[in-house]
Amino acid sequence: MTTPASTSISRQIPLNEINQKVQSCKECHLSETRTNAVPGEGSSNATVMIVGEGPGRQEDLEGRPFVGRAGRLLDELLVSIKIDRKSVYITNIVKCRASTRSSNETALQQQARDRKPTSEEITACAPYLEEQMRIIDPQIICTLGDTATQFILEKHGLKTGNISKIHGRTYSTGRVKIAPMYHPAAALYTAELKDVMKKDFRRLSGLLSQTTLESIG
Ligand code: URA
Ligand code: SF4
Repeated sequence: MTTPASTSISRQIPLNEINQKVQSCKECHLSETRTNAVPGEGSSNATVMIVGEGPGRQEDLEGRPFVGRAGRLLDELLVSIKIDRKSVYITNIVKCRASTRSSNETALQQQARDRKPTSEEITACAPYLEEQMRIIDPQIICTLGDTATQFILEKHGLKTGNISKIHGRTYSTGRVKIAPMYHPAAALYTAELKDVMKKDFRRLSGLLSQTTLESIG
């Protein structure tokens, strides 16, 4: 299905506005330690939106989502199912890196460890993701890892569960399908998880073909 160019333009403008707001946002303490905020990137007409947890070190340095080691694995998984990274929209639950580093410890930056965002940080940042979802209006939301899965399922009024139990399932709500996956960072440390993720991504590919057929027919 082709989307008229006018739709793409009308979505791009509000998306750019969100990007600008995120880049100067000070709604939570993560603004004090970030190098760059990471609003997200991809197609404003995306059928699939991929949602991770939050930027890591490389993402913080570049201001782009999933460009570090976990990102390379995500790219590999997308290539394996012939999805072009540019055709999806990739973002995170929180837009600034959550690490154990405090603002006056820049010398230790290299050693800073990523941590999960707190519920306060998630709540502060949620309006940006909600706006992105409203504008892009994806048909499939692929959540990576526990943090994103919990947030997205709860937001849609669905019961959530540990990612080790629910990865690879499809949840349907309204016209949106939610596809929880393991976080690619987890698969960097556990080789078997990579095979599980490959299999789950093949299901995502099937879901996408089915969704595309439904919207044509
Ligand atoms: N992990 C995430 O959850 N998001 C990124 O953008 C990079 C790593
Ligand atoms: Fe703002 Fe979100 Fe960054 Fe917090 S994490 S400063 S709410 S953009």
